[in-house]
Amino acid sequence: MAEDLNIITGTKQEQYETLLPQIIALIDGEKDVIANLANIAAALKEQFNWLWVGFYIVREDELVLGPFQGPVACTRIKKGRGVCGKAWANAATLIVDDVEKFPGHIACSSLSKSEIVVPIIINNTVVAILDADSEQLSHYDNTDKVYLEKLVQGLAF
Ligand code: SME
Repeated sequence: MAEDLNIITGTKQEQYETLLPQIIALIDGEKDVIANLANIAAALKEQFNWLWVGFYIVREDELVLGPFQGPVACTRIKKGRGVCGKAWANAATLIVDDVEKFPGHIACSSLSKSEIVVPIIINNTVVAILDADSEQLSHYDNTDKVYLEKLVQGLAF
């Protein structure tokens, strides 16, 4: 496996189009989910340099912090709590343009201004969520939703 990612500039779409095949190649052949989530978080951080990007894994009735890149984060989130817990409860992607306007937002870092949370659904059950935080307001849009959903669709747990 070549460890160096080809990091490009360009539109958001161009960046995802170049990055996603590289991530798929990176995790191909590795069946340990933690190893794969760790590399996905690192690859997304390297390409987009978001403030925080990582995973929370469903453990019984809570989300528990998984592999991530960025500042330290809260370790456990209840179903329905914060942006992550809400995306889990709804089993649907949530984009928050301004976290201060999201009731119940859990502020892991005061620098976070906007956020996207994408549930990872296997056999109709949310098994984990991908969370990304930006220092800019309204940073995430439908392009992020489309590509991040595509990215997590193929993950095996
Ligand atoms: N902001 C999230 C908590 C997780 S951190 O952003 C890493 C939330 O409201 O669920």
